[in-house]
Amino acid sequence: MSKFVIQGPQKLSGEIAVAGAKNMALKVLPAALLLNGKSILSNMPQIRDVATMIEIMKGLGANVEQNGSEVIVDPSSLSSSQISGTLSGQARTSIMIVASLLHRFGKATIGHPGGCVIGRRPIDQFLEGFQALGVTVTDTGEGYYFSADNLKGTTYFFPFVSVTATETLMLTAVKIPGTTVLKNAACEPEVKALADYLVSCGAKIEGAGTNTIRIEGVSKLNAMPCEMIPDRLETGMFAVLAAATRSPLKITRCNPEHIESLLTIFSKIGISYKQGKDWLFLPEQSGIYRSPGKIITHEYPGFATDLQPPLTVLLTQSEGLTLVHETIFEGRLFYVDLLNRMGANIILCDPHRALVQGPTPLRGKKIESPDIRAGIAMVIAGLIANGETTIDNIYQIERGYEKLDERLKALGAIIERKE
Ligand code: EPZ
Repeated sequence: MSKFVIQGPQKLSGEIAVAGAKNMALKVLPAALLLNGKSILSNMPQIRDVATMIEIMKGLGANVEQNGSEVIVDPSSLSSSQISGTLSGQARTSIMIVASLLHRFGKATIGHPGGCVIGRRPIDQFLEGFQALGVTVTDTGEGYYFSADNLKGTTYFFPFVSVTATETLMLTAVKIPGTTVLKNAACEPEVKALADYLVSCGAKIEGAGTNTIRIEGVSKLNAMPCEMIPDRLETGMFAVLAAATRSPLKITRCNPEHIESLLTIFSKIGISYKQGKDWLFLPEQSGIYRSPGKIITHEYPGFATDLQPPLTVLLTQSEGLTLVHETIFEGRLFYVDLLNRMGANIILCDPHRALVQGPTPLRGKKIESPDIRAGIAMVIAGLIANGETTIDNIYQIERGYEKLDERLKALGAIIERKE
């Protein structure tokens, strides 16, 4: 098992370029299976989750070539409609492939989709939405069998806002005759980016980026080049890293507009920054950090649940009591025990709420990375802690962050990746 060994506390400096968005790449790859011709996908993050998705697609017979941050997908050789349970268990977004397989083969089989261990991760809205679009869904015990018996446009209201369910139903509906209206849809920038890409390929989609998406089915979609938008979660993570280590850092190739909710919290804490269209600069911070009182995770454009663990590390360095209210997932606060082992003073009130009392100095410890975002929070904690921090199970971190150790070293961090 690989691990990171970090020496803290560390001040960093310099410039860091943000990678392409993981949560767009993982949706555009399955979408490419629906298109006629070869898709050239650029600014793809070189991370494990993307590698897993490519492996699943190759397993179905697609021809996928990866050359650095460019991936070329040729779906013409697709030969199977069965996604192996072992692989689908590693990637929740494998369910999006079902949309493409339904149009290619009229059927699809999938094991239960997995993903990060941050809550129950149900797929009821996918199943209900597929059924509303005329797909017959059979629970096989080991997974699901989908059959495109009577595809038809529909109106579907999501009981809960779900990013991947919105994208999956949108991808399914683009080639279904008639009109589909998705209500209470997710508004995340990655949803809009996927819709923009599909529109460039010939799809008719209106309203993506708002909570009502209207789709007119078309019969043919032709592959077009697609560039991933900057990863807003990586942008926010680097901003928190700069603030937590009080390091001057320029974050480039990003879109600061996508992290407005985080920047609003920064202002309450007393963190200064400057922003341009595609950059964000945090100067070396000298003032006292104040608690923002409470932070509440929310669907976009609210404060992203994926930025909650890194921000909580920063809150341990802010004066006063902060309520962290995680509203999206019920398993996304358990990592606070690890921060407490490092010296933080956090009370986990229930699975959704924690009280952070700061400021508390942190000490280096031997810990494990529970999931991608809690894992990166541990890296930030290691960089501000006194002494050595060892983070095991960095497989989880590398699912979402490209060459993290090399990029942090370039900023002056003392971090080693060890087997
Ligand atoms: C996406 O997951 C992201 N993943 C997550 O990022 C992110 O945390 C999440 O959206 C919320 O923003 C990708 O885009 C690949 P949801 P997703 O369906 O789509 C409930 C990361 O670290 N729900 O929007 O799987 C669900 O339990 C990852 O990069 C149902 O109840 O999340 C949750 O409480 C982790 N039934 C809420 O909706 C369903 O059928 C939102 O989840 C589907 C979801």
